Amino acid sequence: MSDEGPDEAALVSLLAAVERAPDDIALRLLLARLLIDSDRISEAVSHCARVLEQSPGDAQAKDLMALALGKPVGADDSSPAQHPTHADTARDSISDPRPSEQEGFWRHAESQLADAIPPMFVDQPAGESVAPAWDVERPSVTLADVGGLEHVKARLNAAFLAPLRNPGLRRLYAKSLRGGLLIYGPPGCGKTFIARAVAGELGAKFIAVGIADILDIHVGTSEVNLHDIFQLARRSAPCVLFLDELDALGPKRSLTRNINLRTTVNQLLTELDGVADDNDGVFVLGATNQPWDIDAALRRPGRLDRTLLVLPPDDQARRAIFVHHLKGRPIAGIDLARCAAATDGFSGADIAYACEGAAELALIDSVNSGNPRLIAQADLDESIREITPSVTPWLLSARTVVEYGTDDGTFKDLRAYLKRRRLL
Ligand SMILES: Nc1ncnc2c1ncn2[C@@H]1O[C@H](COP(=O)(O)OP(=O)(O)O)[C@@H](O)[C@H]1O
Ligand SMILES: [Mg+2]
Repeated sequence: MSDEGPDEAALVSLLAAVERAPDDIALRLLLARLLIDSDRISEAVSHCARVLEQSPGDAQAKDLMALALGKPVGADDSSPAQHPTHADTARDSISDPRPSEQEGFWRHAESQLADAIPPMFVDQPAGESVAPAWDVERPSVTLADVGGLEHVKARLNAAFLAPLRNPGLRRLYAKSLRGGLLIYGPPGCGKTFIARAVAGELGAKFIAVGIADILDIHVGTSEVNLHDIFQLARRSAPCVLFLDELDALGPKRSLTRNINLRTTVNQLLTELDGVADDNDGVFVLGATNQPWDIDAALRRPGRLDRTLLVLPPDDQARRAIFVHHLKGRPIAGIDLARCAAATDGFSGADIAYACEGAAELALIDSVNSGNPRLIAQADLDESIREITPSVTPWLLSARTVVEYGTDDGTFKDLRAYLKRRRLL
């Protein structure tokens, strides 16, 4: 919220009032106005849109919408993750109204930098942990928030959640439950999302760590980092410890990066086995896009011995992902069945990008025509058409591995899926 904006208390009261009287157009427009003043642009847009749905000709709603859309795009917080945006291209063609101010800024920044140029290379003292403070979350999402993927949920319930919820079973399976679960599949299809939902299901805390982020070329540091993370998880128990990009520890990486990861793998094995420390209440979920690059020692019984394949979302899941990413946006007449049918083979991340693209098309059109309009099915159609599913390259490399690698049964689910898609 900007300093000059209305105070938070007024906004909260107004939000509550609008909720009580959803059809009061004047009240809603007052709220939209205050939201714009507070730089809460996307909320303002959706309130204006709501009014325009009710009363398409409302001049004040149109004006406010134009005002909201005319704000700098950077003022909003809903930018997509990785892909370049349509708006980026549009923004490039709009000249900056205040070049002299910018020049001044850069001149000032330059002179400041010249005064204090830091050394280009620094030494990290050996053995010192460089791990950032890891976030311990308490996720509110559960498996109910994961759209579709019924077989994945059933498998998680049977193999992981049911025994944990039942103390009798837990005692009986005490040994086999020591092990963790390796979630694998193409990028952007929900591995992290599902791991977080598992923590939510268990009412457990959640720590997510990318293995590549804890690796350090200084001898001993990676191991210290790993130990610190496991200790944090033990202190936070019950806790789901999510180790992402586990392939970063694989033998192939050691070769390409010319470093020996053996000691780091050994440290991870020690932590997983929990010989010296009590791992009660710590549930380790590993994830990778490249399960064939995982160090074999990690897959032995009692470690990450069970696998769960998470594939591109099915029809139901795609609908859920569309709903999730369109929620709160000014939309009209969206045909979910059509969207889902047009995105077979897309990842969750691709769908998120399609929604983002559609919103930008509607926005650019509104700005260009000066006539604000809602996001329509045509925008989604166009945005979907422009996207190449990011999963394809993964499927092709998976095919090579499954076709030419030894078949020890590890990738049986993947094999079946590739056959279904006629890739094998
Ligand atoms: N089944 C699903 N239901 C709802 N949203 C999903 C689903 N699968 C993926 N998503 C969405 O896609 C995004 C990317 O998923 P993510 O878990 O980060 O993928 P991964 O870890 O496999 O690379 C998530 O943030 C989520 O919004
Ligand atoms: Mg992930």
